[in-house]
Amino acid sequence: MNKSIEEKIKNLSDNKIWLAPLAGFTDRYYRQIAKECDADVLVSEMVSADGLKHSINKMKPYIEFYEHERPYGVQLFGDDPDTMQVAAEKVLNYFEKLKDTVREGSLANAMPEFIDINMGCPVKKVVKRTAGSALMREPKLAASITHAVKEVCQKYDIPLTVKIRAGWDLESINCVEFAKMQEEAGADVIAVHPRTRSQLFTGKSNWDLIRQVKEVVKVPIIGNGDINTPEDALQMLKETNCDSVMIGRGALGNPWIFQYIRKALNKEQVSKVKPIDKLPIVIKHLDLIYSSDDPKKLYQIRSHLAHYTKGLINSAKAREIIFQSLDYELIKETLENLFNEHSK
Ligand SMILES: Cc1cc2nc3c(=O)[nH]c(=O)nc-3n(C[C@H](O)[C@H](O)[C@H](O)COP(=O)(O)O)c2cc1C
Repeated sequence: MNKSIEEKIKNLSDNKIWLAPLAGFTDRYYRQIAKECDADVLVSEMVSADGLKHSINKMKPYIEFYEHERPYGVQLFGDDPDTMQVAAEKVLNYFEKLKDTVREGSLANAMPEFIDINMGCPVKKVVKRTAGSALMREPKLAASITHAVKEVCQKYDIPLTVKIRAGWDLESINCVEFAKMQEEAGADVIAVHPRTRSQLFTGKSNWDLIRQVKEVVKVPIIGNGDINTPEDALQMLKETNCDSVMIGRGALGNPWIFQYIRKALNKEQVSKVKPIDKLPIVIKHLDLIYSSDDPKKLYQIRSHLAHYTKGLINSAKAREIIFQSLDYELIKETLENLFNEHSK
C-alpha cells in the first residue's frame, strides 16, 4: 500500500536520529556502519545538480545506496531552479527505472525516501556560485529552487527536505524568516544548523535559533550542531523542542553515538562500548571500503581510521603504520593489535 505523504514525513522526522551529510565521509560504506549502530535517517554526501544535469553516470557513486540504508535521501546543491529540477528528476527517474533489476550486493533498486537541498555548505567553490549557504543571502532564489524541486518530489510522491544555516553572518541572521519562506515554497522538513556561513564550523552553534524556527513553522524541524553525547541530544530536544536530531562530526570514529542516543531517548541506561568491542565494526568498515573499486578508498579509510583510533594509547604509532601502508593485511593486523591491547 502506498504510504501517505504525512506518514512518509513522519518516518523522517518523528523522534529520529539522523546522520548528517559529511562530504568525504558519509559515503555508502560509512552510512551502512552508522545504520548498523542504529542511525535512523541517512543522507548522501552533497551532489552537484550541474554535474547530474551533465551526466548521471559520473555521479552514480554518490547517489547509490544500500537497500538497508532506508530511509535515505539524496542531497543536491545548486544555484539554479531549472537545473535543480532537472537534477532531481534525473535522480528519481534513475532509481524508478531500476525497478525489478537485480543489483550487485544489496544496492537499492528503487526510489530513495526523499530529496534534500543543501542550503548550508560554506565552501568557497560552492558559495561563489550562490549555492549552499550563499542561498541564505538569496531567500527568494532559495524559495524558487525549493518550489522547482518540490514539483518533482510531488510527481514521485516523496517528501522534500532542506538543510539551512543560521544566516550568512552574525549581522544577517535570518533563519526564522528563511525557514518560513521555505515552508511556503514546499519544504516538508527543515534541518537547522545554527551557525552562520562566516562561522564555518567554529564557535558554538546557537541552539536558541532552532527553538525560534520551531516556534514559527509547522513542518518538522531537525536540530543539528554540536551533538557529541547522548546528553547533548536530550538537551537539544528539551531546549529547542525540535522533532529529531542530526549528528555530524560527533559520529566520526564514533558510530556508536546513535545507539547511545537511542537508549537515552528510551530512558535506558547507556553504557559505553569497550574498545575491544568496537573492533568488529572498525574491521567491517575497512572490509567494506577495501572490497569496493573506489579509487579514493585509501584516503577514505585513512581519515576514518584516524577518527576510530583517536585517544587510544599507542594509537599515534599505529596510525603511522596505517598511513604509510597500502597493505590491507598489515592495516588489519595493526588495528587488531591496537584494539586488543585495550582489552588487557
Ligand atoms: C567534513 C564535513 C563535510 C560536510 N559536508 C556536508 C554536506 O555534504 N552537506 C551538508 O549539508 N552539510 C555538510 N556538512 C555540515 C554537517 O552536515 C553539519 O551540518 C555540521 O557539521 C554541524 O553538525 P555537527 O556539529 O554535528 O558536526 C559537512 C561538515 C563537515 C565537517
